[in-house]
Amino acid sequence: MLIICWIRIILLGWPTWVAAADSVPLAHVIQLATAQTQAYLTQHTDSMRFLHSQHADGNPIEVWPGDWTSGFFAGKLWYLYVFTHETHWRAAALRFTLPLATNDTLTTTHDLGFMVDIPFARAYTITHDQAFREVLLQAARSLMRRYNPRVGQIRSWDGGPWHYPVIVDNLMNLELLFRATALTVDSSFYRIAVAHIDHDLRYRFRPDYSTYHVLDYDPQTGQLLARKTWQGYADSSCWSRGQAWAVYGLTMAYRYTRNPRYLHVAQHAADYFLQQLAKAHDLIPPWDFQAPDSLSQLKDVSAAAILASALLELQRYVPKRKAIHYLHEAQAILQTLSTPPYLTSSITHSYFLLQHATGDAHHQREMDVPLIYADYYFLQALWRYSHLAETDFWF
Ligand code: GLY
Repeated sequence: MLIICWIRIILLGWPTWVAAADSVPLAHVIQLATAQTQAYLTQHTDSMRFLHSQHADGNPIEVWPGDWTSGFFAGKLWYLYVFTHETHWRAAALRFTLPLATNDTLTTTHDLGFMVDIPFARAYTITHDQAFREVLLQAARSLMRRYNPRVGQIRSWDGGPWHYPVIVDNLMNLELLFRATALTVDSSFYRIAVAHIDHDLRYRFRPDYSTYHVLDYDPQTGQLLARKTWQGYADSSCWSRGQAWAVYGLTMAYRYTRNPRYLHVAQHAADYFLQQLAKAHDLIPPWDFQAPDSLSQLKDVSAAAILASALLELQRYVPKRKAIHYLHEAQAILQTLSTPPYLTSSITHSYFLLQHATGDAHHQREMDVPLIYADYYFLQALWRYSHLAETDFWF
């Protein structure tokens, strides 16, 4: 075996994953996550309420099943189970996954990927329980009902001052559709996901590959009416989490489609993000890359964690030199997230790994707080980082 490895290295060079030195304190982060989450579960026993954030006084902020973030706590618990192999985490993950099953018939939101795919795809992978497969398929059917063929996209939000809004975050929820086709012989899910992306690529990106947050269409004619922001600084600026959603979403779409255009745009979007980071004083982005100086101190660790996870997938698909670049950037982001001031500690009595996330600074909500989806993508990125050469990279 050793000889085969050396022959491979002599002929092909070092595999990319060798470049990733073991420099992220994984064991420490997982130990912290399990201690914090155990403390939360001991004090908060209602499994119809889902951890979302935390007040400054230490009290948790929880949401109901219908909130877009309800699936991330179960997703975090599934990662704790696969990292530790301790069955009480599996039981806890199931306890916070099962109440979300009724979300599978929701047709009032595009967020079914976050709310259903994240907990139930992991539950199905672990248990092979057909009931979880059915929840995923029903949720995919519900999401498809939001597709308007005249527009060529799935509608994101029903409310608000728009006619037919489609946000960049929507790309993330398409994994539910790709998965539904992978679980069945029914390609209709796949075709809607691809139609949505192809249409998105016409309008989503500026020439420098930064993203607009909201595309607004005329639902009758399909004509693009406006390009706006909702959570970014301005219509003309780039909301950093939106940019991270784009990199992640297109990379994920490439995994299912092998469409080189998706890979091309994902790389350019990642490069834009990394160029902006190079201007920042560390590897955690401001909430908006064009936020004025007075607001640019406000960071968003969730954008950093989402990007790190996306880069770890993207590096699998690109030529070696570029792969090493993405891998090193992801590793550096994970190192930064694994240290103060971003990583919490046992003396801060936090239920969260990461602090300094921003939910919606445009509306002065959730500024500089912990957010459950930052922790979720951080754990996912750590999982990917610690399984670079393995098939269970995908959990
Ligand atoms: N998907 C909502 C957000 O990123 O804030």
